[in-house]
Amino acid sequence: PGVTPLVAGNWKMNGTAASLGEIRDVCAGLDHKDALPHETLLCLPATLIERAASVAADSVLSIGGEDCHPLESGAHTGDISAEMLADAGATAVIVGHSERRTDHSETNALVADKAKAAWRAGLSAIVCVGETREERESGNAENVVASQLAGSVPDAMNAANTVIAYEPVWAIGTGLVPSGDDIEAMHALIRRIMTERFGSEGEGVRILYGGSVKPANAKEIFSIANVDGGLVGGASLKASDFLAICEGV
Ligand code: G3H
Repeated sequence: PGVTPLVAGNWKMNGTAASLGEIRDVCAGLDHKDALPHETLLCLPATLIERAASVAADSVLSIGGEDCHPLESGAHTGDISAEMLADAGATAVIVGHSERRTDHSETNALVADKAKAAWRAGLSAIVCVGETREERESGNAENVVASQLAGSVPDAMNAANTVIAYEPVWAIGTGLVPSGDDIEAMHALIRRIMTERFGSEGEGVRILYGGSVKPANAKEIFSIANVDGGLVGGASLKASDFLAICEGV
């Protein structure tokens, strides 16, 4: 009770001007509903944020970034700061996605600095955690997620400036989804860790599930205790799929 679910899309390295129609369709679909029970966010490549924010200006859809540099500005060729994302119209940014942790060797400490950068710019930070297949099979999933949370979530976290996304790496883009019991157990663990460290802010922080969320499984996943919405990759690229997933909240 009291927690407004969040359905967030992550377009990853997809989308050009030709995709703005999908965003227009998402806005139109959302705005036909009154008093939506959830917040809706699309995290986009930086190149699309300004145009998407303008398309979504009169809609309940918010726009976010997929990553940011920890610093505000400087000699960091190719990087984008949280302030730049905010300037382009973003209100949130994903930090520590497993693809960033893998492709760019991002550490927990760097992810924590990125979360702080997001707050500095007035953005909320979606901090991603999740175990690999090997970590799950060797019985280490809980330990891995606990240590990612300990290292990636800064002390000044609160329920308004931060969202946690649990994304088992082996479920991302594979069509594989953990059992309902496994999702429930991991989300309960995350809730316990967050509440022990942050008290009522940890109780109220939203914990999203990500990894092969589709229209067909969204409703069931979103009904699991401590699942406060989803972080949706592939299925967020098509407005009709993303809207169908939103219907599952
Ligand atoms: O950030 C989104 C996730 O990585 C999930 O991606 O829905 O394509 O499995 P997916």
